[in-house]
Amino acid sequence: MSTDDASAPSDSHAGASRVPAHIAIIMDGNGRWANARGLPRAAGHERGVEALRRTVEAAGQIGVRYLTVYSFSTENWRRPASEVNALFGLLKTFIKKDLGRLKKEGVKIRVIGKRQGLPDDIAGLVERAERETADNADFYLNIAFNYGGREEIARASRRLAADVESGKLASENVTEDIFASYLDTVDMPDPDLLIRTSGEYRLSNFLLWQAAYSELVFFDVLWPDFDRSFLEKAVAIYSERERRFGAVSKGSA
Ligand code: FPP
Repeated sequence: MSTDDASAPSDSHAGASRVPAHIAIIMDGNGRWANARGLPRAAGHERGVEALRRTVEAAGQIGVRYLTVYSFSTENWRRPASEVNALFGLLKTFIKKDLGRLKKEGVKIRVIGKRQGLPDDIAGLVERAERETADNADFYLNIAFNYGGREEIARASRRLAADVESGKLASENVTEDIFASYLDTVDMPDPDLLIRTSGEYRLSNFLLWQAAYSELVFFDVLWPDFDRSFLEKAVAIYSERERRFGAVSKGSA
């Protein structure tokens, strides 16, 4: 969800500290973590899944409602087939192993990104995870898989254009909110906080529309070493920042 004036922060205030309602994470550094240990890159991704499990648990405990994680980008197809297969295998294992528990814990799973081109078994598991958790509303876990921000915007534009062509939507009624309703993140607040690990300072095509006003926090830690203490640190940094959404600072004339 996006608002035309983007004036309403979605985070919650807990005493002096503010907890972001929606955190997005670029989980970077799995390959370097593995290389540093003489392990295959896939071993870094495996440890990355452990860090993801820790993070989902910690985020829920500190009061975050939405967590969106970048697990496979539309550009990651350029990696060796063995690594692509390893990442596909990890998504399958994650859904098979964790779905029952996440379902019980009230987690609603959504997989964002391009479905076309995903192997049938993955597409089937993704649909199952979404279907079986569809009625949950305690915590929203969004897995960006085969995701690219530009691809998402182009795909949304094609659907929107088709609705204009068919007369379902008048072009003069296309607002930011209407456009956002065609994105994979429909019905979700935009991320308040976006974290990237591994000391890289880029968005890498992640949530390009949705991150327009996100606070960005970068850590030097490699993703497999990410834990609750980093999440808490990011929330503390966020809570000290003043979000102006294009307006002037509070207290300035
Ligand atoms: C970036 O590290 C990470 C990825 C491309 C994949 C992230 C995936 C996971 C954390 C596990 C998968 C989780 C699920 C649920 C499928 P990199 O490989 O680019 O690391 P490098 O920059 O050090 O090479």
